[in-house]
Amino acid sequence: MLAEKLLACLACPACGGGPLRLDTERSAEETIVEGSLGCPECKRWYRVVDDIPRLMPPGLASNLRAGDEHWSEWREAMLDFLQWREDAWSDEQAAAERRSAALALHEQFLEFCALPDGPFDCLDIGAGAGQLSDLIGGDCTYVGIDPLPGGRAPGGDLPPHMPRASRPVSLVQAVGEVLPFARSSFDVVLMLGSLDHTCRPDEAIAEAARVLRDGGTLCILQGKSSRRSCGIGGALRSVVSGIGGGRKVSARDTHLHRFGLKELEALVSERFVVAACSEEADRIFLRAISQSPEA
Ligand SMILES: C[S@@+](CC[C@H](N)C(=O)[O-])C[C@H]1O[C@@H](n2cnc3c(N)ncnc32)[C@H](O)[C@@H]1O
Ligand SMILES: [Zn+2]
Repeated sequence: MLAEKLLACLACPACGGGPLRLDTERSAEETIVEGSLGCPECKRWYRVVDDIPRLMPPGLASNLRAGDEHWSEWREAMLDFLQWREDAWSDEQAAAERRSAALALHEQFLEFCALPDGPFDCLDIGAGAGQLSDLIGGDCTYVGIDPLPGGRAPGGDLPPHMPRASRPVSLVQAVGEVLPFARSSFDVVLMLGSLDHTCRPDEAIAEAARVLRDGGTLCILQGKSSRRSCGIGGALRSVVSGIGGGRKVSARDTHLHRFGLKELEALVSERFVVAACSEEADRIFLRAISQSPEA
């Protein structure tokens, strides 16, 4: 749902300019089926397709093709992630169990987040289809970003048994390292299982700090994941990588980074004051408060 409020805070991923100007080509009810967003500063144009602005950074195409080396290992990991996801959600019974486990975990995490009581603006980084919005009550204006638009694979769709949002949500195709929003646009930033998938977690944390209002909250749910293996194994995988290649991919192969509680706290503390964290079994919950750079 390309709402007025979202349009007002979108910024150019190349130069940071904004607000972006919307040219609607086709609309239906409240959605922009097709259109373009123009940057007033650098004059670049970005597509809006199926109501989702495509605001990927320079060097990274909407279909995840990388224009330079910077994103190439990340892209490979994303292809592995898509393969893993397809396998993990293909069996109906296993998918039902996965869905209810995820729901319980997300409810527990949102409790930990201590979200504001009054109206607040919330950004979900690595939102997939934006299904978390169903669980956030109160007066929340929810925006989700993901390099997979609406959670969909390039040229594909969501696996059939994967959860979807039950009502229209505002989604943007973008990466956490280059958030296409003006500074101080949100009260809450959430990252559920996405930090270890980013190419540069430090840049994603710095961007979260930039788009949060002073005193805003960053909440991270992170599995104590292992890191993807690189080197020869990685090189071999890249030769055969591709969606539906018939090869079994482990969840481990889809993470570019690995965090324990200490590493996560150290990373976040560079820009935030950590307010609470908890570690249980293979999960970390962390809540931190943004502070202005001068503070
Ligand atoms: C394990 S899934 C978690 C999805 C959802 N947050 C949840 O908890 O169900 C990780 C998500 O991170 C996204 N992701 C990968 N790289 C990213 C990046 N650089 N910036 C933001 N999200 C990214 C993936 O596309 C994927 O949707
Ligand atoms: Zn621009």
